[in-house]
Amino acid sequence: MQIVWSAVDLEPAYGGVCVPTMGALHEGHLSLVRRAREEADLHAHRLPVVVTIFVNPAQFAPGEDFARYPRTFEADCEKCEQSGADVVFAPAVGEVYPEGPGAPIDPRIIIPAVAREPGLEEKSRPQFFIGVCRVVHRLFELVRPSAAVFGEKDYQQLLTIRAMASEMALPVTIHSEPTARDEDGLALSSRNVYLAPPQRKRALGLSKALRAARGAASVAEAESAMRSILLANQVEIDYAVVRDAHTLMPIENLAFGARALVAGRVGAVRLIDNMAV
Ligand code: PAF
Repeated sequence: MQIVWSAVDLEPAYGGVCVPTMGALHEGHLSLVRRAREEADLHAHRLPVVVTIFVNPAQFAPGEDFARYPRTFEADCEKCEQSGADVVFAPAVGEVYPEGPGAPIDPRIIIPAVAREPGLEEKSRPQFFIGVCRVVHRLFELVRPSAAVFGEKDYQQLLTIRAMASEMALPVTIHSEPTARDEDGLALSSRNVYLAPPQRKRALGLSKALRAARGAASVAEAESAMRSILLANQVEIDYAVVRDAHTLMPIENLAFGARALVAGRVGAVRLIDNMAV
């Protein structure tokens, strides 16, 4: 496996399968790398798998955890190699954002409706999807992949990137992988390292709430069950909703294809999770 610091050395890996990450890799990311390996091996000429590691300043608001976001580069590279990556691309901020991360967004980049309208992540983190679309678009420009893999854990992000790629007619197929969980149900996240043991126990409220939503008979019953469980686990609720699985807009009935989504704070740590219901 090769570590590439600058896009000028990426040419041999053009057309590969890309896994964009911010590092601090856990089993969830590695399931994306293994999926990328599988997709890449389906081609007659085994395509390269390129993992990008870049902590994107443009998707953090002032006061969020950009400076203390966990950075574990050497361990990340070992894990990537063991999971089947051919290249780790770790660009400098100046290469991703030649005009600086605070410069206005390239007006060609489409921020799709699913990133602007549902009132979920974008409500409490208005800069987030603008930063995500910007970096993913730029990484695609540098890596030139034929396909990319994202996790369902960040479900609104997955739908946003899929819609951006489709609405901008980017020549990239977007694949997704289910959320990886610890045995007790906690969705894996790089931010779980911030949780003290009693907080980790409370954080289980998120997956418990989602499982309760799956057994509910209506949207209202599902949302009320989720809120009760989150409150019982002392999770400060941001949202606990059942939405259309494609648009993330409100729905009246628990039709096939509904998605339950929760976000909340356990102490200072903001966590999100989701499940099909
Ligand atoms: O999900 C992430 O780790 C990030 O939001 C992504 C997609 C790598 C963009 O920085």
